[in-house]
Amino acid sequence: MLNARSSQLALAWRMLSYLRYLRLTAVVTGSVIVAKIGCELMCVYFLSPTITSVASHATRQALAADGGFWAWLTGASPTITELRPLLCWMALSQALLGLFSYLRHVWDAKLSMRAVFHLRGQLYDRLQHVGFTFYDRMTSGQLINRALSDLQSVRGFINVSVINILDMTVSIAGYLTLLACKSPWLALAALLPTPMSLFIVIRFTKLAQPRYDAQQVSADVLMHKLTEAIYGVQVIKAFGVQERESQAYAEANRGLLKRMTAMISLQAKLNPSLKVVAILSHVALFVLTSWLIQGGQMQIGDLMILGAAMGTILGKLEQVNLIADVFQKAMVSARRLFEVLDAPPEEPRLARLDHQESISGDITFNRVSFSYNSSKPALKDVSLTFGYGKMTALAGATGAGKSTLVSLLARFYDPEHGRIMIGGVDTRSWHLADLRRAIGYVFQETYLFSDTVRNNILYGRTDVSPAMLQQAIQVADAADFIDRLPNGLDTRLGEYGVLLSGGQRQRLALARALVYDPPILILDDATAALDAATEATVQDRIAPLLRGRTVVVIAHRLSTLRRADAVIMLHQGHVVQIGDHESLQCQNGPYLDLVRLQSANLLPQQELSDAAAAPKPLHTPGQVTSPLEATA
Ligand SMILES: Nc1ncnc2c1ncn2[C@@H]1O[C@H](COP(=O)(O)OP(=O)(O)O)[C@@H](O)[C@H]1O
Ligand SMILES: [Mg+2]
Repeated sequence: MLNARSSQLALAWRMLSYLRYLRLTAVVTGSVIVAKIGCELMCVYFLSPTITSVASHATRQALAADGGFWAWLTGASPTITELRPLLCWMALSQALLGLFSYLRHVWDAKLSMRAVFHLRGQLYDRLQHVGFTFYDRMTSGQLINRALSDLQSVRGFINVSVINILDMTVSIAGYLTLLACKSPWLALAALLPTPMSLFIVIRFTKLAQPRYDAQQVSADVLMHKLTEAIYGVQVIKAFGVQERESQAYAEANRGLLKRMTAMISLQAKLNPSLKVVAILSHVALFVLTSWLIQGGQMQIGDLMILGAAMGTILGKLEQVNLIADVFQKAMVSARRLFEVLDAPPEEPRLARLDHQESISGDITFNRVSFSYNSSKPALKDVSLTFGYGKMTALAGATGAGKSTLVSLLARFYDPEHGRIMIGGVDTRSWHLADLRRAIGYVFQETYLFSDTVRNNILYGRTDVSPAMLQQAIQVADAADFIDRLPNGLDTRLGEYGVLLSGGQRQRLALARALVYDPPILILDDATAALDAATEATVQDRIAPLLRGRTVVVIAHRLSTLRRADAVIMLHQGHVVQIGDHESLQCQNGPYLDLVRLQSANLLPQQELSDAAAAPKPLHTPGQVTSPLEATA
């Protein structure tokens, strides 16, 4: 428990440290708060003699004398001389109070909004720089919930907790000083309800913490379900499982409602308990003051100070509830935000190998092992070479580890064992940005931004001539369909219902990689969504462009595998065969299985002739299915 509390304080301290970016705003806000409380105290301070004066014997006499109220008010009577400056002071302090109340409102909001502004920026930066391991752990729903709702509760922490604690401390200290000036006993008496109120609030805090934790987890689940329903809408509809998904969402929704209700019912119990303490204290205090006034130790006006002080102190203590509530929520949120902010960025490069050399040469994997999670390694002791300026094909069943292997090359993940080298230099020697700039990727799944076609192709590059852009589009066989778009290259994707087919998306991704002109090009199933004829066109056009580059192509079709200088077969994270098409199809092994499978089943016409040269499949009944079957 002690540990939990100290970790909460550490979190709070860390949150507060964000105010260092806003020193000026924080100082102005603090000063405005102090000034506003000063004005409040001034009002109360002048109220006391004003009331004493108004209620005094002399005033009553003046009112009874000739002229009555009018003469008294216009100053014909001597009492007003004493009253006039008091009234002026009162008016002035009220005016200032109004001004500072307004300023406080404005600066409160400025401070908390600016703090959130910084946090939001840092959160986004961090999301750009954390490794893929982090994204494997978190769902987008979780991350979005953090960037929206958790950030808002941190804003609440500054707006409500920090500012109210400052306000409360200064107010209570101010009123106690004012009371102590009248009588130290009064100050002490005004503090009477404090321990009881604090006890109640702390007790509540302890009960509320786990409930709030649970509530946020439910909110995460709900957000996760919502994002899945949006991203996966096609699958959900295709499988006609809307009903089931709706039920799952309704259940998560009910879970959140239940937890929020539990929280509110707890909160509802707190306020009456605090009210009881407040009422008892007021009664006790007024008994004490009546006794002091009767004994002549207090003026009637002082009762005003006491009333105001008591009201303020009890009011502020009631706020402890709100402060604690917001504080707790904010600390739960802070923990979740810092989980993102503290996620390690991608591995920095090896400091000791300060390599300025250009990134070229053979790509060598030297005894590389890697697993996403400890349960099952994705790559086991892989040693291979992608020849410089050559085209190497990677083949193997789904899940064999092909995408994993190429993602290690750009250091989306780092291997657990072994080294990856380009031209004999460890890939960890270069800056990540330099390394990645040297590698053009066409991923299995293409992400296109809601921007124009042109910007999607040029993505991030500004120095591409129109001729280079056109060439990339031609080679990727994307010219025809782009011309047919309403505004050609300047059509915004997603607008006017412009949505692209899988094949069109892949062609854009290919153009994007080609325009990047990288020395190393990785095509991860980049032509899988193209029909055989288009693929052949792309292959023919791309061939001259690939010359002089190191190309790794992940493919299943024989037409592609045959063009490669070398073929590497992967099976369950192991390299099982290396060679070229000619030599591999003469060996018994998975490559031959692949050739037979394609010639037997789904082979397009042009590949059939190609496969005819391969040995006939040996069909043994009951034979164990080849792992490569899934690729067909
Ligand atoms: N992000 C990930 N987190 C955990 N496991 C993964 C992840 N990506 C792939 N895997 C697993 O690693 C293995 C290899 O996957 P992958 O390299 O994508 O295969 P391939 O590209 O050959 O189809 C598979 O067992 C797959 O389930
Ligand atoms: Mg893959």
